[in-house]
Amino acid sequence: MRIGVDYYPEQCGRSLWESDADLMQQTGVEVVRLAEFAWCRLEPQEGCFDFGWLDDIIGILTERGIGIVLCTPTNCPPLWFYEKYPEAVQTEKDGHKTRTGIRGHRCINNTDFLRYAERIIDVMTKRYADNASIIAWQIDNELEANFCFCETCIGKYRRWLKDKYTTLEAVNVAYGNAMWSGEYSSWEQIQPPFGSYPDPWLNPSYMLDYNRYASDSVTEHINWQAELIRRRFPHTPVTTNVWFCRNMPNFYDEFRGLDFISYDNYPTTKLPDNSEECYSHAFHLDLMRGVKRSKFWIMEQLSGGLGCWAPMGRTPSPGMIKGYSLQSFAHGADTVVHFRWRNAAGGAEMHWHGLIDHSNVPGRRFAEFAELCKETKTLKAVRDTEIYSDVAILYSPEDEYAFKIQPQTNGMYYLEQPMLLHSAFTKHGLNVDVIHQCEELSGYKIVVAPEMYLTNETAVKRLYEFAENGGTVILTDRSGVKDKFNKCIMQQLPTVYRSLIGAYIEEYDPIGYDNAAIRLSDGSVYKCRQWCDIIQPETAETVATYDSEFYKGKAAITRNRYGSGTVYYIGTVCEKSLYNRLVKDILVNTGIPYVDGLPDNVEITTRTGDGIEARFIFNNTNKEQRFMLDGGEVCLAPFEMKTDIKEG
Ligand code: GLA
Ligand code: ZN
Repeated sequence: MRIGVDYYPEQCGRSLWESDADLMQQTGVEVVRLAEFAWCRLEPQEGCFDFGWLDDIIGILTERGIGIVLCTPTNCPPLWFYEKYPEAVQTEKDGHKTRTGIRGHRCINNTDFLRYAERIIDVMTKRYADNASIIAWQIDNELEANFCFCETCIGKYRRWLKDKYTTLEAVNVAYGNAMWSGEYSSWEQIQPPFGSYPDPWLNPSYMLDYNRYASDSVTEHINWQAELIRRRFPHTPVTTNVWFCRNMPNFYDEFRGLDFISYDNYPTTKLPDNSEECYSHAFHLDLMRGVKRSKFWIMEQLSGGLGCWAPMGRTPSPGMIKGYSLQSFAHGADTVVHFRWRNAAGGAEMHWHGLIDHSNVPGRRFAEFAELCKETKTLKAVRDTEIYSDVAILYSPEDEYAFKIQPQTNGMYYLEQPMLLHSAFTKHGLNVDVIHQCEELSGYKIVVAPEMYLTNETAVKRLYEFAENGGTVILTDRSGVKDKFNKCIMQQLPTVYRSLIGAYIEEYDPIGYDNAAIRLSDGSVYKCRQWCDIIQPETAETVATYDSEFYKGKAAITRNRYGSGTVYYIGTVCEKSLYNRLVKDILVNTGIPYVDGLPDNVEITTRTGDGIEARFIFNNTNKEQRFMLDGGEVCLAPFEMKTDIKEG
């Protein structure tokens, strides 16, 4: 396990570099990421390269034994480039060119941009080809599947459709274009979405495909850059850094051709008022580990209060900097790189706080970071361990797109139910994998399949087989709704899952912000919200019925035997305590060992390897927590992580 920092020598004075590097070395920093926005310093004028400063800082860091992650600087071509090639700037949906002056303006399909990008990558990789300090490459920075409406991108989108459907007729059928006389009779009629989602006027099938195209376009660009880097760095791992943004590409495609995942992790510094609300960091970390089903990096990690495109937010309270970093290790991170070493004194991000403030006096946050570096060294033995889970939660980026395109009802969003169920398993001290819905399921005991909205044959087949062979499945509302084109399936819901759940949905009530109630057989009553599937059991038994509305007494949650397995169907969105209760019953029934009585937001994960088991116990709250574990009392300070390592 290693700690690193993101460093911007080009943004601070040369006089600081040596002392910064000394302090990094003394503190225990082992990795530094450089240059992702530095193109204008590397090529200040067209074809005139200046790598002296980069050689200098790489040398300074190398002398101190620090490894370098070098980035392709393609996020920000210099302004001289845009001046010469104004077409290379992205085009907005109103046909205007994006104004330069922020970052990430380039159209990644523009041929002039690609030519200049290829040259800078070539010059850079050639220069450092023999440099053993370069331990990894990062492509660009947080590439987003932005919609660019330039002629090149429009042409590319039409070609993507031709490759996929061959004929216009097939496109018309796939999209249901008979609606509103929308049938295409020439390829030129096909336009990108000159609206933004959710836009109820735009055809959801077309919108989903456009998202797929935009994501494919980013993936193609990433693979193109990876290939350029590997020409001179065939053995050095290549990555790109991602976050959960509005136009996020499909991570599974994006990383398929890369060597490891890196994720930008900024857990909240302002804790939610509602203690019911689960913190989602652990879920996102588990999801990132699941993208390649392997260890990952955090390429940017919270270091101070945020403030750039929004007013400044709360500074991390004591324990957060160290705790959130260790939490990443507990969920399978291998290296955590903190963003950023020091605050920028100038530029838009001057109030996005790094480890060292403008005063240049290392303070409370830095002291905590130094402790983190020390503690990380004690975890070296854990580096080759993996996380094994009995429980998997299925996730689909396409379902997430589809929910964004067509919000199902007020307040409902795709990730909420996976996160509620994730938190219920976490509450019982279990490792949880979050994996793509088409992954192989053997080896798991419980598979949570929330909102299986767009129907994917592989996923359906795997779930049936899993249940048949004795697994426990939890399905929820909004499953089996659409075909792969994002069109409704004309069958009783949940269509393809009907025999798996042993029931069908008679009718549904999207209650949005209203509340309804459900009752369990012991008489206990819980609130539910957003969505009510009125379930008609066939072979299934009823676990809960509605306790309000015109469907009072009808089934809301069911359980079915399928093959030698068990399948639950939760037809509504429940309050958190009900998920905790259901999950506990399921754990008892499946015989999976669990921890009872953990306080909310205390997380336990385990990493195991050859003769080693490390158990991480994390207090993800701002209060001291005391609880019993293995017959003894554990007391954790706010955001404290305790690590037990058993060897031999
Ligand atoms: C992102 C970017 C960084 C920086 C941080 C904080 O994660 O990758 O360059 O902008 O946000 O602002
Ligand atoms: Zn474009």
